[in-house]
Amino acid sequence: MSTVTIGSKNPVTIKKTAALAPMASVADSAYRTLCRSFGASYVVSEMVSSKGLFYSDRKTAELCTVTDAERPMGIQLFGEDPEFMKNAVTLIERFEADIIDINMGCPVPKVAGNGAGSALMKDPQKAEKIVRAVKSVSPCPVTVKIRSGWDNDCINAVEFSKRMEAAGADAIAVHPRTRNQMYSGHSDWDIIRQIKQAVSVPVIGNGDVKSALDCKKMYDETGCDLVMIGRASYGNPWIFKSIDKYFETGEILPPPALKERIEVMLTHVRMIVKNLGEGQGMREARKNVAWYLKGLPNAAKYRNECGSLVAFSQLEDMSRRILQSQAQCEE
Ligand SMILES: Cc1cc2nc3c(=O)[nH]c(=O)nc-3n(C[C@H](O)[C@H](O)[C@H](O)COP(=O)(O)O)c2cc1C
Repeated sequence: MSTVTIGSKNPVTIKKTAALAPMASVADSAYRTLCRSFGASYVVSEMVSSKGLFYSDRKTAELCTVTDAERPMGIQLFGEDPEFMKNAVTLIERFEADIIDINMGCPVPKVAGNGAGSALMKDPQKAEKIVRAVKSVSPCPVTVKIRSGWDNDCINAVEFSKRMEAAGADAIAVHPRTRNQMYSGHSDWDIIRQIKQAVSVPVIGNGDVKSALDCKKMYDETGCDLVMIGRASYGNPWIFKSIDKYFETGEILPPPALKERIEVMLTHVRMIVKNLGEGQGMREARKNVAWYLKGLPNAAKYRNECGSLVAFSQLEDMSRRILQSQAQCEE
């Protein structure tokens, strides 16, 4: 299996299969650890506020913890002020991230409305200053994650990537939708191809990869150096295993049997509960449980039940009932 190396100062070598995309409120430590164990070749933290770090928000610092099981792992920072961003790198140094990723793609008003995230694509000069500032203190490679542009009238990802490379970015990750598109329509993979042709640093392609075949297609059509997957991993860490297998042998793995799905779901939720405690952990786990159960017979009934899960034992009980009812169907 081939690899891609990012950066020259403490470079990071990553298997060219598929990485897990940063996803706030979804790809937490348990999620990342599980996806790594299923073959995700690289993971990134949820976005972390540079200002939150400065004002010593405890929760913000928690988001930066990197465990050995998650490496190679990037910590993603967001902010619109080069000095705060620089300071943030120093504040998170103790977590020893393998990569610092700068968020220049977040579309939500809370972030973009303050000039950070995707709003930086409208202000390339400020974005360059941020890359230079972060790079000047970062002990590890620095990457940027962008969109295709702000809106249909301003699709500037190719030019923007060249500027970020010149400012020192060690790789460009791109989700080629505009900010205004949010998550609607399709991502335009041709933009990934154009960026790859325009820069010499590695390009990480992202957007709408839902299977091993999609992953291969993105590599082939865009020439990107690494594929990154977000939503298709919901309740589906197997996607990474399936990509590994397909790239090794050309074989498409069948979907996991129900028993395996339930077992992995329980393992995942156990990890969440271990990290967050049972109360908060079960609340956070509900969406994951609903994703694992998607497509099952009577899924709607069980998904309804998810909304009131407060104890891990309730989930174990629900799991037993699901498996029993399947066994009865098969008799
Ligand atoms: C719930 C959710 C949270 C996200 N949070 C982040 C984030 O914190 N930082 C970031 O750069 N992108 C974030 N994204 C965007 C994803 O990293 C990715 O670019 C996008 O989902 C497209 O990839 P996909 O089609 O494989 O899901 C988020 C996406 C979702 C759905």
